[in-house]
Amino acid sequence: MSIALVILAAGKGTRMNSDQPKVLHQIANAPMLVHAMQAGDALNPERTIIVAGHGFDEVRDTVADYNPEAQVVSQAEQNGTAHAVNVCRDALDGFEGDVIVLFGDTPFVSTETLEKMIAARADNAVVVLGFEAADPGKYGRLVMSGDSLEKIVEFADATDQERAITFCNSGVMLAKRDQMFDLIDAVAPQNAQGEYYLTDIVGIARARGLAVTAVSCDEAETLGINSRAHLAQAESVFQTRARAELLDLGVTLQQPETVMLSFDTIIGRDTVIEPNVYFGPDVTVESGTRIRAFSHLEGCHVSRGATVGPYARLRPGAELAEHTHVGNFVEIKNAEIGEGSKINHLSYIGDATVGRATNIGAGTITCNYDGVMKHRTEIGNNAFIGSNTMLVAPVSVGDEAMTGSGSVITKDVPDAALALSRADQVTKPGLARKLRELLKMKKKKRDGEV
Ligand code: UD1
Ligand code: MG
Repeated sequence: MSIALVILAAGKGTRMNSDQPKVLHQIANAPMLVHAMQAGDALNPERTIIVAGHGFDEVRDTVADYNPEAQVVSQAEQNGTAHAVNVCRDALDGFEGDVIVLFGDTPFVSTETLEKMIAARADNAVVVLGFEAADPGKYGRLVMSGDSLEKIVEFADATDQERAITFCNSGVMLAKRDQMFDLIDAVAPQNAQGEYYLTDIVGIARARGLAVTAVSCDEAETLGINSRAHLAQAESVFQTRARAELLDLGVTLQQPETVMLSFDTIIGRDTVIEPNVYFGPDVTVESGTRIRAFSHLEGCHVSRGATVGPYARLRPGAELAEHTHVGNFVEIKNAEIGEGSKINHLSYIGDATVGRATNIGAGTITCNYDGVMKHRTEIGNNAFIGSNTMLVAPVSVGDEAMTGSGSVITKDVPDAALALSRADQVTKPGLARKLRELLKMKKKKRDGEV
């Protein structure tokens, strides 16, 4: 059976107290809407439709970045969840299969759960995803009769007896396209909020003698985000799950609860992650590496056997080859570091290429920016860059070349050459002692002691 995903994301999210549309707030560095889309993507949907309203342009651009084939449909006025699905009629024109409705603010529904719903569709016209709520609060309540779901009552419209039900509506719903629209046609805004409720299609389907059931999942999957507190809770749910997955994959996390991961972080087995490491978006770390404490990585690739940190910062475009060493207080941006090369202390390497087995001394800086343009630094294989070298880009240092400590390198250094650019040293025997005596005398005079 082919599947179409409809993700409702038009609401304002007043309780977020934000200028940004709710569904674009991020969990693990990806908008919550992207998490919702990812859950559905695993079903290989034939069509993906996002219903947007508040912050339409921003939502559309975000969707395009993540899935250019998804359609974004506008719901200018938010008249309820049934109305939101209804605006997708044209976008679903000619589609014959089943429609799954997801909420953009409910990002953690798992693919397995959606598959369970699809399986239940075989014997039911409509399938709803429910969960046992520890605190049912204002969720819609599922009124069951055996395995049959009789109706969904919104909290505002529920009797005391119905409010006592703890089996709640997640919002996820599945029905054949034509059936869903037939049922939606019969929905009327006769309720406390004067909205078109998608939840009403359940009672309507039952009145027509159609079979309806509810599949149940863990409450953690249905976590709906309505406030910053929920967002923080969602972040924590994501991080806990992602860390557990890494541990299962054979990655050592010395203190898992201090490591922050992104939605797309990839780490190979037998890698050791020390405490307090932050993985921003787009990081891959190969097997058998060590990421030492307090390092910050984003948009970078770390190859097998490399060591990073403590206190290293790898920024977008940092590419570390196998067995490289990047030590404390080193920042690398948009630079490839060749196999076995070492940058161990206090350096900035940006817009650069460093060859194999090269040693970059402490305090080396690639001066890549002239205030207007960025320029590259090229360093060859087996080179030795002396401590505190300033490499004023564009500049190159050849294979097996050396620079003297403290040099400011403004011209290319050929292979095997030694480049020195610093004032010659002058040494005056005994002058230090004389100078010190002179200064002590001056101090005594100033203090009136002589
Ligand atoms: C909804 C359900 C409720 C369920 C709860 C789960 C209905 C009537 N109620 O209530 O049974 O327990 O979710 O979280 O469906 N949206 C639109 N356009 C609209 C209205 C809503 O796109 O016109 C989107 C919102 O952006 C949101 C989702 O639909 O992503 C749910 O809407 P919301 O207003 O949060 O519904 P709830 O009151 O939470
Ligand atoms: Mg809600």
